[in-house]
Amino acid sequence: MIVIRTALVVAAAAAAAASDPAADADDVAPLTLLPKTTLGKCLDGTPSGYYLSPSVTAAARTKWILNLEGGGECASKDRCLSQLNGPLGSSKYFSKTWRMNQFLISRDSKTNPATWDWNMVHLPYCTQDLWMGTRATPSNQSYGLSFAGHYVLDAVVTELLNLPNGLGQATEVILTGESAGGIGVTPNVDWLHDQLGSQAKVTGAPIAGLYFYADPYTGPGHTSSDLADFREAAWPSHAQLWQPFVDQSCLSAHDSVAWPCMLANYSTRFISSQLFFTQSKSDQVVLTAHDWVPGDLKPWADVEQYIQVWQRNMTSALNGLSNQAARRGFFGVDCFIHTTFSPQAPLLPFHGKNVSFAAAFDAWYTDNEFVYLQDYGGVFSNPTCPK
Ligand SMILES: *[C@@H]1O[C@H](CO)[C@@H](O)[C@H](O)[C@H]1NC(C)=O
Ligand SMILES: *[C@@H]1O[C@H](CO)[C@@H](O)[C@H](O)[C@H]1NC(C)=O
Ligand SMILES: *[C@@H]1O[C@H](CO)[C@@H](O)[C@H](O)[C@H]1NC(C)=O
Ligand SMILES: *[C@@H]1O[C@H](CO)[C@@H](O)[C@H](O)[C@H]1NC(C)=O
Repeated sequence: MIVIRTALVVAAAAAAAASDPAADADDVAPLTLLPKTTLGKCLDGTPSGYYLSPSVTAAARTKWILNLEGGGECASKDRCLSQLNGPLGSSKYFSKTWRMNQFLISRDSKTNPATWDWNMVHLPYCTQDLWMGTRATPSNQSYGLSFAGHYVLDAVVTELLNLPNGLGQATEVILTGESAGGIGVTPNVDWLHDQLGSQAKVTGAPIAGLYFYADPYTGPGHTSSDLADFREAAWPSHAQLWQPFVDQSCLSAHDSVAWPCMLANYSTRFISSQLFFTQSKSDQVVLTAHDWVPGDLKPWADVEQYIQVWQRNMTSALNGLSNQAARRGFFGVDCFIHTTFSPQAPLLPFHGKNVSFAAAFDAWYTDNEFVYLQDYGGVFSNPTCPK
């Protein structure tokens, strides 16, 4: 009798703590820097690092989610050098702690039902190479900088594999990321699977990471790229600078030409891991920072016509996922956003309810449902877009 009562009290206390993340510090993780000798370096050569928040239930002890942070990319000397005095280029500026309260690394069980209790690892982005670089030795050709994003992931995975009860015991692993981190998921996800051994189920979940080559807006009012030039002709020099690690089966299929394998629209059909994309169909950053669309969207008639074409391309990119051999899912919204996906908005209808990207991901991941959700109403037509 007493034993049962105690068990109930403990269970109730655990449930209370889980439903109120503020009641404890479960969602705040400390920074661990990689050793000084690591190949996993930031642009400026300082060792990168990670934030680890251990699982909060026994059921999730062997489940891991790794989040690749975003933050653009650099291909020109000026832009790359301008990142050295901040966390996007140097671990000297990393914050000492990270709060797990966004995207799929959120400890809120109500809004992140799939992974709220998992081991969570946030990887800060300080390499400006879309998480693919393998240039650990700076040279004049690299402006004296390292581009070692893939090596950062490699070094963090190696540390996690060496932990007691670490990634080596994993049964399920999700590689997620947003923006540049979302781009970095696809080339790295099958590699990650290879590091883990066959007992682990490995999934990629890119957020704002479904890219194709840019074909910029050149009508009235057009701007120029703030971020790197994403036209097809520019990719060979990005590959030259970053020396990207990409999916090996994609690379073989392209006669060792790396750049088609750097963008998900051309590489997903070579990826054997299952993939779930969360994507805007009128992506604000892609349109204004890569595709020369003026930020004020004026003159609207010309700009809208361009966005309609871009959006048709994104629609077919999403639809193209659904007939691939490996399992796919997606959540594609017509909102003028990039990574602004939260539990509140935007939402898409699913089984008679309006669901967030995280709820849609849960249905796809946990309940094994078909989830191919997208708006078809035209430019900015989703009624729940965040303001
Ligand atoms: C790199 O550039 C510096 C300055 O322009 C030059 O002095 C040096 O010789 C170059 N090093 C190599 C290996 O090309
Ligand atoms: C996306 O990939 C598909 C399949 O390879 C291709 O047919 C399509 O043209 C690509 N879209 C763009 C905009 O490049
Ligand atoms: C749309 O896709 C077509 C076919 O791949 C491509 O030729 C065109 O440049 C793309 N336009 C935009 C705006 O992405
Ligand atoms: C879903 O959202 C739309 C747009 O805001 C609204 O019209 C509709 O009533 C909502 N449906 C449900 C089931 O809440």
